[in-house]
Amino acid sequence: MNILGIESSCDDTSAAVCVDGVILSNVIANQAIHEAYGGVVPELASRVHQQNIVPAVQQALLNAKVSKNDIDAVAFTRGPGLLGSLLVGVSFAKAFALAKNIPLIDINHMQAHVLAHFIGDNKPNFPFLCLTVSGGHTQIVLVKDYFDMEVIGQTLDDAAGEAMDKTSKILGLPYPGGPLIDKYARLGNPLAFKFPEPQIPGLDFSFSGLKTSILYFIRDHVASNPDFVQQNLNDICASVEYRIATILLNKLNKAAQAYGIKDIALAGGVSANTGLRQGLQALCEKNNWRCFIPKPEYCTDNAAMIAIAGYYKYLKGDFVGQGVAPLARMPF
Ligand code: KG4
Ligand code: ZN
Repeated sequence: MNILGIESSCDDTSAAVCVDGVILSNVIANQAIHEAYGGVVPELASRVHQQNIVPAVQQALLNAKVSKNDIDAVAFTRGPGLLGSLLVGVSFAKAFALAKNIPLIDINHMQAHVLAHFIGDNKPNFPFLCLTVSGGHTQIVLVKDYFDMEVIGQTLDDAAGEAMDKTSKILGLPYPGGPLIDKYARLGNPLAFKFPEPQIPGLDFSFSGLKTSILYFIRDHVASNPDFVQQNLNDICASVEYRIATILLNKLNKAAQAYGIKDIALAGGVSANTGLRQGLQALCEKNNWRCFIPKPEYCTDNAAMIAIAGYYKYLKGDFVGQGVAPLARMPF
């Protein structure tokens, strides 16, 4: 059974082919245009998706050596995401399914990040916990089955990726800043500067206070030393990354203890972060938990996760009709 997966929720246009539950291709077209603006410009993102979508699909079919005539179903990201961006992927998927007279499968982007753990042989057992950390979301998800997931903790304001990107903006680094914070953090001392850990009850997160404290910290130091950021860039990045990772891991630890779960997973763009990956591995080793971290290409937005989620929905016969519309805020 051959599934074509389409992802266009934000600024990456991606297409993937899944054959009998195995990913054979995963093409991702990034949009460099947003760098000049220091963040994703929704209007531009949808236009570039429009340019990229057909070449991305053609390349994915070519890489997988699967003809478009042999595709059995199209899985697409229905939401959450930027409405204009989603519209491009949804419209393409509908047109493809209509032309080939094959089923359409709608996928929740956040569930797909979790289901990226079912690409490859090393799969977690249900129930497991997944910390899903991206540019738009920060969630601890209790995963009871492929499509039976419960968000047991989430951010009350900014997402973890947003905290990374906003910090990098304060430091004068280009967008997206997360990978650059990761790069400089490797050369710095994580304990050089101490940023506060918010005291939020339960399993929820908050990152807006941290962002403000970083802003004031930089402003005050630059006032007395204009070269402060250049002279301390590695240590600042290492200290910020350390604080974000400890906020995330402390809550994940609390959730795992509370629910008595021993299979722990990480998903979403921020799970590409080296400090967070190492921190989670250490936490799991200490507690004798099994740790699941996807390959970096399946952490950031990609259509392979949409295609694999589509595969499991296909097995259930869970399809949608041609009237389906994107949902910018699609709940679980
Ligand atoms: O899942 P994703 O690709 O898109 C969304 O659905 O938001 O996540 C993008 C986020 C951005 O905030 C980016 O800065 C962050 O993931 N990110 C990283 C790293 N790679 C991507 N953050 C820290 N370290 C990284 N290596
Ligand atoms: Zn994402």
